[in-house]
Amino acid sequence: MKKQPFVTLEQLKEITKTYPTPFYLYDEKGIRENAKALKEAFAWNPGYKEYFAVKATPNPFLINILREYGCGCDCSSMTELMLSDAIGVKGEDIMFSSNDTPAEEFAYAAKLGAVINLDDYTHIDFLEKTIGYIPETISCRFNPGGIFQISNDIMDNPGDAKYGMTTEQLFDAYRVLKQKGAKHFGLHAFLASNTVTNDYYPMLAKVLFELAVRLKQETGADIRFINLSGGIGIPYRPDQEPNDIRVIGEGVRKVYEEVLVPAGMGDVAIYTELGRFMMGPYGCLVTKAIHEKHTYKEYIGVDACAVNLMRPAMYGAYHHITVMGKEDAPCDHTYDVTGSLCENNDKFAIDRELPKIDIGDLLVIHDTGAHGYAMGYNYNGKLKSAELLLKEDGSVQLIRRAETPKDYFATFDCFDLVKGLV
Ligand SMILES: Cc1ncc(COP(=O)(O)O)c(C=O)c1O
Repeated sequence: MKKQPFVTLEQLKEITKTYPTPFYLYDEKGIRENAKALKEAFAWNPGYKEYFAVKATPNPFLINILREYGCGCDCSSMTELMLSDAIGVKGEDIMFSSNDTPAEEFAYAAKLGAVINLDDYTHIDFLEKTIGYIPETISCRFNPGGIFQISNDIMDNPGDAKYGMTTEQLFDAYRVLKQKGAKHFGLHAFLASNTVTNDYYPMLAKVLFELAVRLKQETGADIRFINLSGGIGIPYRPDQEPNDIRVIGEGVRKVYEEVLVPAGMGDVAIYTELGRFMMGPYGCLVTKAIHEKHTYKEYIGVDACAVNLMRPAMYGAYHHITVMGKEDAPCDHTYDVTGSLCENNDKFAIDRELPKIDIGDLLVIHDTGAHGYAMGYNYNGKLKSAELLLKEDGSVQLIRRAETPKDYFATFDCFDLVKGLV
């Protein structure tokens, strides 16, 4: 399927009069339509709630859009908790799914009344020592080990992942938590990332639902929710078939009726913690071609770099690129599209067939709305870009300003030595 940007060249020309490239642009219309479709797909489950994975796109303006569709926040750190609290997401609207958790983060999550999802058996004691009690509602993260497969496709390798408890630990955890005063339980697992198949959630649901029935029978725990976490993917490549959230919701419903309802667990709420699926396709990185270089290969140098989008450098991830205004031109040039970091992996595309690129052309790097801006860093003293929202009425709102050198130097503000810089 041909990947179309959600913005036109004319709109971008207008936007760049006010906001210099590079910048992130988000599509309000797309975010809303998708959030609505997700809500509808799980409407069969009265307790259903999506806890948006804040780590994917930690921008309060975007999270506030999702809140209109009933979403809460899935947080994994102190600052994500602070952000959620600051925009009024409180109490059980926050899921705290962290790992290797510092004591002060547990304490803060408990203070906010967030639902705490324990990553490890030893965290029971750690949490109790930290906050002085075990919350009445608590969740545990499960890791079945081995390899997670759908048909013959290896989806991921939980046995090699640092997250979650073994089956034995999970049963022990429920018993111990119950003894210590927990009254209501949740069960959570994240077994595969970026799954571009409608089968992942239903398969995961089967594993978790059957486990929940056993947990209830063997420990007597009152299981209130099952959290399918994140992992629903998006088609980064044009040849990939997008997931159909209605089919996924229906697949989970079928398993729910086969496994939970007969076990007298037809009141269990389904939770999700989606990040990529909620935002990925509805954000793009807009950058400009500023150099072309002809050596052993053909290079196009752009004004964004891996600081703005790390996924290609970090995972070799594919992000589709549209050269704006040349959508229908033949892809008869082969380029490496590079950033300016002193790192040879700072390439948005390698050997990519694209139309001829001229200096000044605007490039849209697709599907960067999740785990894009958020992974940014400051190597080479490069600064993070602005984030903009393309609103439904076609207007543009600045939703995070670009970093300035002052931000970069701010952590020296306690030293006289660098007074001139901060
Ligand atoms: C605990 C947890 N929940 C949810 C997510 C969101 O995952 P995704 O963006 O794949 O939906 C992540 C991603 O890293 C995660 O670690």
